[in-house]
Amino acid sequence: MSDLASIREIDAFAESLRKDFPILHRTVHDRPLVYLDSAASSQRPEAVIEAMDTYYRTYHSNIHRGAHTLGEEATAAYDGARTKIARFVNSPTPEQIVFTKNVTEALNLVAHSWGRANLGEGDRILLSTMEHHANIVPWFMVAEMTGATVEWVPISDDGVLDLDALARMLRGASVLACTAVSNVVGTLNPIADICAMARGEGVVSVVDAAQYTPHQVTDVVAIGADFLGFTGHKALGPTGVGVLWGRSDLLDSMPPFLGGGEMIEHVDYDGFSTAPVPAKFEAGTMPIAEVIGLGVAVDYLADVGMDRVRDHDVAILRYALAALTDAFGAKIRILGPLDPEQRSGLVSFELGDVHPHDISTILDQEGVAIRAGHHCAKPLHARFGVTASARASFQFYNTTAEVDQLVHALDIALELFGL
Ligand SMILES: Cc1ncc(COP(=O)(O)O)c(C=O)c1O
Repeated sequence: MSDLASIREIDAFAESLRKDFPILHRTVHDRPLVYLDSAASSQRPEAVIEAMDTYYRTYHSNIHRGAHTLGEEATAAYDGARTKIARFVNSPTPEQIVFTKNVTEALNLVAHSWGRANLGEGDRILLSTMEHHANIVPWFMVAEMTGATVEWVPISDDGVLDLDALARMLRGASVLACTAVSNVVGTLNPIADICAMARGEGVVSVVDAAQYTPHQVTDVVAIGADFLGFTGHKALGPTGVGVLWGRSDLLDSMPPFLGGGEMIEHVDYDGFSTAPVPAKFEAGTMPIAEVIGLGVAVDYLADVGMDRVRDHDVAILRYALAALTDAFGAKIRILGPLDPEQRSGLVSFELGDVHPHDISTILDQEGVAIRAGHHCAKPLHARFGVTASARASFQFYNTTAEVDQLVHALDIALELFGL
């Protein structure tokens, strides 16, 4: 169990920021809300909600089109958000930031645009066994279309990627799709090392940073991926917006993913030519309010400090792992590495033989929100011989008292099932 000083520190940090999140002050079933589902979708601060509200109330207009004041203000805010996000992930240029609907669309963009243009018979696509379906299914689709094959990089029993197997498998492969943090086992992969290994073998790396970007510094230069995607709604931003970052030369060489307005340079009776990146990949009217909201969200995260977010993550994980094992001993099976330094802010578990859906329903009665199910990672659950798990996930606004509340509610669940 963490010492008292560190518990006070975690809670003081969380408490100082909770006031910015209006939703955290509501009740559920007459109990204070204990929101432990930030890996599914984080909550957002007042500043994000306000920025979107202000856009709709005072300068809503389409972007990059009209030569009127509202259009100019909206365009400046949209382009400004791209610059903020570029700074947040240390992108060498803002043009390498492509807005999408979510990370799922970002990964589909890479698979369908880069993949279909570059893969064929005999090409090997490597997927880590801990991928979310968003970084699996697009690759299966592209494999089917191109004749490439899919291979799985194994993980150990404690949910750690087998780097020796990866090194062997990378030889002669074409692309590696790998998550930076598993949304089930929580493993924080050594993603910069993994990308360096891929680069050494001339393999294109596609990093899913959906669970990574909200919890630690994302530095695309230091990570060294060829493509990296994340999703706005898990990073304090709105739903409906995601980000694809890519290497400039690759983005420039890729065909468009979707066709339509804004992504063209010219269209005539014979065909079309494409606009430069990023417009080439942003067809149609984009989620303008959401992009503006995401810009404010990353500013908020930067102000909090991603190093402090990571410190809170490790501290609350240490507290939660100890509290759960102290309370439930052999009755609980925690998936993934038990060292908090090796994971990011979430804990998936099985409790006795209570179905995860029953656990989450009982917890909801106590005001505690967790996620239950396969978390869109069926191959990973199959690796552990289970079909579903319960998952508590944290963000910097969670306190140790909320972890205690989780343990208390789980106790009630066990009691109800006579375990
Ligand atoms: C690791 C990971 N990748 C991808 C996704 C998909 O995110 P979205 O539905 O926002 O595209 C999730 C969401 O749960 C995730 O956890």
